[in-house]
Amino acid sequence: MAIREIRYLGDEVLRVPGEAVSEFDDGLRALVRDLFETMYHAEGIGLAAPQIGLSLRLCVLDVQDEEGSDAGRLVLVNPELVRASRQTDKSTEGCLSLPGLEELVTRSARVTVRATDPEGESIEVEADGLLARALQHELDHLDGILFIDRVSPLKRKMLLKKWKKSQEEDRG
Ligand code: NI
Repeated sequence: MAIREIRYLGDEVLRVPGEAVSEFDDGLRALVRDLFETMYHAEGIGLAAPQIGLSLRLCVLDVQDEEGSDAGRLVLVNPELVRASRQTDKSTEGCLSLPGLEELVTRSARVTVRATDPEGESIEVEADGLLARALQHELDHLDGILFIDRVSPLKRKMLLKKWKKSQEEDRG
């Protein structure tokens, strides 16, 4: 197991749609363990393969809901959004690839995602609340989309300005 380096905004891999996972082998299972370890280390609730530099359709989540209901650890291989409610929900979002940035993002309130597990078995996840939001956020990563793409152009401009400033400060 290893903690992988998280890629930040500006890294091209975050903008490339991931390729379908085709090998359900020990390599995939090791990668899943690394994704979890990296996500927990960074105190995130979801992490997608492109965020550690791998252009693959694979993500992990561990979401504890506001109501305390625990969806548990989820591994989604080649996930697809099969249903998304017309009813939306607006809440604050952040991303491990854009540390320090947060903004209100409108998402579908309920979603159904179909995927396979690391053994290649089909799974279906129905969710609302925080898990529905996290699922949409992670699936976006697999298409090269970041949450800053889901806000108004003005808000995006402000976020990018803040990001640029934080990067300059980091460089000293
Ligand atoms: Ni993210």
